[in-house]
Amino acid sequence: MTRYGKLIGASLGPGDPELITRRSWAVLQSGARWLYPVKKAEESSYALSIVERGGLAVPADAEELVFPMTRDAEILLKAWANAAVRTVELLAEGRDLVFLVEGDASTFATFGHLARVVRELVPEVEVETIPGVSSFAAAAASAELSLAEEDETLAIIPAAYGVGVIDHLLDEFDTLVLLKVKPLMDDVIDLLERRGLLATSCFIEKVGSPDERIVRDVASLKGEKVNYLSLMLVQNPKRERGELRRGCRQRKDAQDASAHA
Ligand SMILES: C[S@@+](CC[C@H](N)C(=O)[O-])C[C@H]1O[C@@H](n2cnc3c(N)ncnc32)[C@H](O)[C@@H]1O
Repeated sequence: MTRYGKLIGASLGPGDPELITRRSWAVLQSGARWLYPVKKAEESSYALSIVERGGLAVPADAEELVFPMTRDAEILLKAWANAAVRTVELLAEGRDLVFLVEGDASTFATFGHLARVVRELVPEVEVETIPGVSSFAAAAASAELSLAEEDETLAIIPAAYGVGVIDHLLDEFDTLVLLKVKPLMDDVIDLLERRGLLATSCFIEKVGSPDERIVRDVASLKGEKVNYLSLMLVQNPKRERGELRRGCRQRKDAQDASAHA
């Protein structure tokens, strides 16, 4: 009977190797075989660059898996199937595999899908996901902004839902994190201008990497082709809030009252 290795998704944080967790760091040096994602064969891998900047040498047998950036369902399906089949082949050698993940492995990451398909093919494969620092947590820290305080609401969405949805969500959430904002930059900037929210928006590109860029004057980005690894933090201080159910506070008040009784 085949003894499969474990499939480990190692979150590496968004770019600064100092944000790699101790757990991911240990797994990278555990003797597990490395797998890393690329958009095209033999192209550079952002995830790999994070560990290289952290001072780890890439093992000679590290292998790339190609996940093309396309909306063509046929090409995507084929690439996903190839990646999963190759992963199963390697796991069947009995050695653990560590899949390098930029940011956090549970947040809009290739790893979740890969692990699911691998498990469909071989249900007994053990999967471990090592959590990590997401791009937007690091972006908020770099820009010295809070994502949410006290009763504030926070939504994290791919900007591709379009400006209509973003416009609506601005009424529902105090802070919006817009990921994958690149193709919609100009439309988003126009919307923020209409809503009077340019001053409370911030654009962050390649956070944690040597090329990190923070742009507070987001209107200045109009017409610019920004990097795919970029996001926008939008705060709506004018949002009208609904009634809050203060159950937790009531319970605390009751606890305090009984403590003083
Ligand atoms: C496929 S998602 C990956 C998210 C990632 N797993 C995370 O935890 O942040 C890619 C999107 O995340 C955002 N992103 C990822 N890394 C980033 C970085 N270093 N700087 C800014 N945005 C980043 C961008 O919006 C990008 O289009």
